Amino acid sequence: MDKIRIQGGKVLRGSVEISGSKNAALPILMSTLLTEQECQFNRVPHLQDIRTTIKVLAHLGTHATPDFSSHTLKLHTPEITSFEAPYDLVRTMRASVLVLGPLLARFGKAKVSLPGGCAIGARPINYHLLGLERLGAKIELEGGYVIASAKKLHGNRVAFEFPSVGATENLMMAAVLADGETLLENCAKEPEIVDLARVLRAMGAQIEGEGTEQISIQGKKSLNGCNYHIMGDRIEAATFLAAGFATGGQVTVEGVDPESLEAVLVKFEEAGATIVREPTSVSLISNGRPKATNITTLPFPGFPTDMQAQFMTVMAVAEGTSLITETIFENRFMHVSELLRLGADVVIRGHSAMVHGQKSLQGAPLMATDLRASASLILGGLCAEGETWVSRVYHLDRGYENMETKLQKLGAVIERVRSSEEA
Ligand code: UD1
Repeated sequence: MDKIRIQGGKVLRGSVEISGSKNAALPILMSTLLTEQECQFNRVPHLQDIRTTIKVLAHLGTHATPDFSSHTLKLHTPEITSFEAPYDLVRTMRASVLVLGPLLARFGKAKVSLPGGCAIGARPINYHLLGLERLGAKIELEGGYVIASAKKLHGNRVAFEFPSVGATENLMMAAVLADGETLLENCAKEPEIVDLARVLRAMGAQIEGEGTEQISIQGKKSLNGCNYHIMGDRIEAATFLAAGFATGGQVTVEGVDPESLEAVLVKFEEAGATIVREPTSVSLISNGRPKATNITTLPFPGFPTDMQAQFMTVMAVAEGTSLITETIFENRFMHVSELLRLGADVVIRGHSAMVHGQKSLQGAPLMATDLRASASLILGGLCAEGETWVSRVYHLDRGYENMETKLQKLGAVIERVRSSEEA
């Protein structure tokens, strides 16, 4: 297994090109199951989760033509050869459950393994299933699988108990081919939902209200192919800005809409950084050590849970004590015990973590536990004195494209040590 070695203490300066958004790309690629025509995408990030999505789609019968050097991908599903997303694929990537909506809508049948728990929490899919039942699907659970069927889905009103990102996406994809009108209420408003709606519209779907809590969809008989450019990854962008801030540097992220990360930018400002917003880029200029700032994770437009761990690393070297409260996932403080190994002072009390900022951290061997936690450990290594090793970086590779190369461009001393190179 690859590891990452960091020689910390370098101030990061410069500009970095942000990749296409992983969380936008996953549902968008799944949505191509809705049409028998070819779809082409640009700015597809070269990530493990994208390769897994292609495997899931290929298993169902999709012809996939990726060209990762140009970040393009063609997907074409003239017909289906299987209705099943098997456990082996779903267990490595929960977002595989997003095939449920499109398969049901176009073929009236889907069998998808229940994703089970993951490091950051139980993450059930009850909102997805209740919503699909409201559109007329019959849902059965058998041998760890969800078996869903419907002769034809029918539009209906679906009010989500919680604005779940995945459930909103699954229901949008189901409703675009259902008979009649669907009204989705208490929807997630994340920018990735807006990107999915744009793709579906490019395929001929009739959707209104994406980005608000109410989305209305008029079902169509069929959809056509599309050619679409995926949005920039707001979490990757915010992570690089956090790296600049934690090391006392100055970083510009290019190719991202500043509005998509406004909640994080406001917190960087509160912590003392200067932020310059341009139409498609953001710069962060540190003004000395960050100042302690409290955050609470919330659904969009609140502070994203996917930036909680990285923000904690910034607070670990801030002046003063900050309170970080996680309200979205029940077990998302796995990075804390690793940050302690760098000399951070963090105390967990239920859903909150009290972070007493330190003047400096010291390098140590660390182990990544999940995707965003691994980014927080890389950030910790960048601002720690001496050498840090981060193992299990396959978590990082699920969601960050060439992170170490991009950090090197900003002046970090960081390298990937392939398992074959280790002594
Ligand atoms: C998506 C993102 C993930 C992000 C999360 C919250 C993708 C591929 N992943 O995950 O990076 O951290 O949004 O912004 O886009 N829940 C239920 N029942 C359900 C669905 C969700 O109880 O049927 C709970 C979850 O356990 C969690 C909360 O609702 O506690 C939010 O989950 P959700 O918004 O659905 O997250 P995901 O779509 O899984």
